[in-house]
Amino acid sequence: MKNIGILTSGGDAPGMNAAIRAVVRTAIFNGRNVYGIYEGYHGLIENNMFEMSASDVSNIIQRGGTILRSARSKRFLEKEYRQIAHENLLKRDIDSLVLIGGDGTFKGACEFKNEFPDIQVIGIPGTIDNDLYGTDYTIGFDTACNTVVEAVDKIRDTASSHSRIFFVEVMGRDAGYIALYTGIANGAEEILIPETKTNMDDLVDNIQNRWRSNKKSSIIIVAEGEELGGAVKISEIVKEKLPDYEIRYTVLGHIQRGGNPTLRDRLNASRMGYNAVKSIMIGDDKIMIGIMNERIVKIPLERAVKSFKGVDKDLLEMMYVLAI
Ligand code: F6P
Repeated sequence: MKNIGILTSGGDAPGMNAAIRAVVRTAIFNGRNVYGIYEGYHGLIENNMFEMSASDVSNIIQRGGTILRSARSKRFLEKEYRQIAHENLLKRDIDSLVLIGGDGTFKGACEFKNEFPDIQVIGIPGTIDNDLYGTDYTIGFDTACNTVVEAVDKIRDTASSHSRIFFVEVMGRDAGYIALYTGIANGAEEILIPETKTNMDDLVDNIQNRWRSNKKSSIIIVAEGEELGGAVKISEIVKEKLPDYEIRYTVLGHIQRGGNPTLRDRLNASRMGYNAVKSIMIGDDKIMIGIMNERIVKIPLERAVKSFKGVDKDLLEMMYVLAI
């Protein structure tokens, strides 16, 4: 029985700590040693790791961020640094890795695994974007959405008091999940996401039609990765076309990445962490632990990064019906 390494990589996400806790405690319960690796692949290259005890993960289930810290390592893209990372693992007798992160993290893991098949690799989906195939929820998505919902409720108060059109930008570089889910939960009038084409003429017409039908304020949720360039850009274009309307924008930014994880994120993260270690023990390799229809599933890592999850277009349609 050799040792397990664990790291968090890419954008942090609330619930990552709950996953770390679950991995460490499940491993120790089963007689395995766990090494925490700081700052993702960066720490792996720098040999920055420490042996973790059950008490190292006390009192963290409720905390946002990641106690192991995170980074987006450019060096890990190069073979020579992956080689150094591998040597560092061997020095500590680590032969399995639990990687908590998103798309970029898992792409790196696939490269690494192809070169060094002796290291068992298990992924846990941790990103607020929810853009990984093979799981209904990624860790952090639920908390991020709740943060947005609370913020937009407040914006709605002032928007309706002043009869204003608000463009609110939420995170999601390549995916519109946060925008879609929060747009529905906030009763938004429009949702603009990277998965659909934004038609500016329709957008302007809709705003005017709503005004005529006595809806004087609107909330328009814009995903950061929306093709026309986000809330600032779109609000400027609309302002030019509708100079008589009061138009404002808010970019919510990194507040979406912090905060205490919700029940769903703590529960999902705990289940994924626990099952990641169980997977290691039965010899699973190069898989991601996901949750679909409330059940634990195991998806080949390559499939999780290469397949397109796509958003549910019915939800988008529903949002427009409910916003009349
Ligand atoms: O991947 C998660 C995410 O929060 C994206 O939604 C966002 O585009 C990106 O990270 C921001 O990254 P950074 O914190 O490095 O600016």
